[in-house]
Amino acid sequence: MKIKSNSKVYNVFFKDNVDFLNAVFETEHVQYVIDKNVFELYTDCFSMLPQERLMLIEATEQNKIIDTALQICEKMTEIPAKRNSVLISIGGGIIQDITGFVASILYRGIQWIFIPTTLLASCDSCIGGKTSLNYKTYKNLLGTFYPPDEIYICPQFFKTLSEKDYKSGLGEILKFNIMSGNSGITEIEGNIEKLLARDEVVINHFVENSLSFKKSFIEEDEFDQGERIKLNFAHTFGHAIEVISQYMIPHGTAVACGMVMANSISLVRGLVNNDFVKKSESILLKIIDINVDLLKVSYEQYIKIMQKDKKQTNSSLTAVLMTGMQERKELIIVRNLEEKEVKYAIDYFINFYKTQKEI
Ligand SMILES: NC(=O)c1ccc[n+]([C@@H]2O[C@H](COP(=O)([O-])OP(=O)(O)OC[C@H]3O[C@@H](n4cnc5c(N)ncnc54)[C@H](O)[C@@H]3O)[C@@H](O)[C@H]2O)c1
Repeated sequence: MKIKSNSKVYNVFFKDNVDFLNAVFETEHVQYVIDKNVFELYTDCFSMLPQERLMLIEATEQNKIIDTALQICEKMTEIPAKRNSVLISIGGGIIQDITGFVASILYRGIQWIFIPTTLLASCDSCIGGKTSLNYKTYKNLLGTFYPPDEIYICPQFFKTLSEKDYKSGLGEILKFNIMSGNSGITEIEGNIEKLLARDEVVINHFVENSLSFKKSFIEEDEFDQGERIKLNFAHTFGHAIEVISQYMIPHGTAVACGMVMANSISLVRGLVNNDFVKKSESILLKIIDINVDLLKVSYEQYIKIMQKDKKQTNSSLTAVLMTGMQERKELIIVRNLEEKEVKYAIDYFINFYKTQKEI
């Protein structure tokens, strides 16, 4: 798959097994940055890498900071090739965010190859070029737009993901399908059990579909000024959930909870019908596995966090909602979300989740 960005056209390659790594590792002037867990799980794949060109990083939000990025920069200054240096990073969204940031600032931009190993990074974050670092208590406050030159997706990596991280990735796949309307929901309904069973053929199909869906938005609006904002469907709530749970609820799962909340508001506003909402809820419920008590904080805290979100541009709250009574659905940017609607959506989700899980 080719993705056009303002700076370059880059390629996403799909690989059946990890053997492709041998060819990628023939690249010269390379610094490798690998998720420590991935390195330990797939040691044999990395045995030929020179120790002095290898950095292992623990994929935690605490490590997604400027200090880690600077340590990589420092290591890369040892490579004589300087601007011809290549950064190859292997891991999930955290490793992607850190190394993408480094690739974009070092020597004003160096070549970068990214190999996602989580479902979330493979079906969503690997394209689009956003790089981010956390700063103090602010999530993703520092960042640039800098896509990799090459991306290699290999579903073999997903086999070792924890259930929590795998389901988080499914959250993003469900998001793209729900956003594409009734046909997307029907397709997911027919395949959700296979997805949960990590059927490689089915996963490949949905990863490719998700990337194609995202591609149409990012190619039109790479820098998040118009159409791309719509990809933030459910994120106003999702981000608040991540923060309130202190990241115990991972990104894709938080977005899945956010979709239930966003759709509850769409229903009350008369933007979508009950059938659509119930169908989306029933598939989302299959992948949301959380301690709902983590979400029981005051509404004021939710509102405060939502107002702090960097995607908010107004004093009133903004959210992306779905609309459309027929087969086709559209995404609309709502800039007048009311606090009482936020309260309603949070209560709705907590009650919905508790009653459904108790059945
Ligand atoms: N840049 C973007 O566009 C973008 C988009 C969405 C999310 N993000 C960011 O991505 C991060 C979340 O990324 P993520 O969900 O991909 O996971 P992650 O990088 O947070 O990793 C989650 C866990 O999975 C482990 N892991 C990774 N690959 C594995 C494998 N193959 N087998 C076993 N364990 C493995 C990691 O070590 C870690 O413990 C967040 O920081 C979020 O802000 C970025």
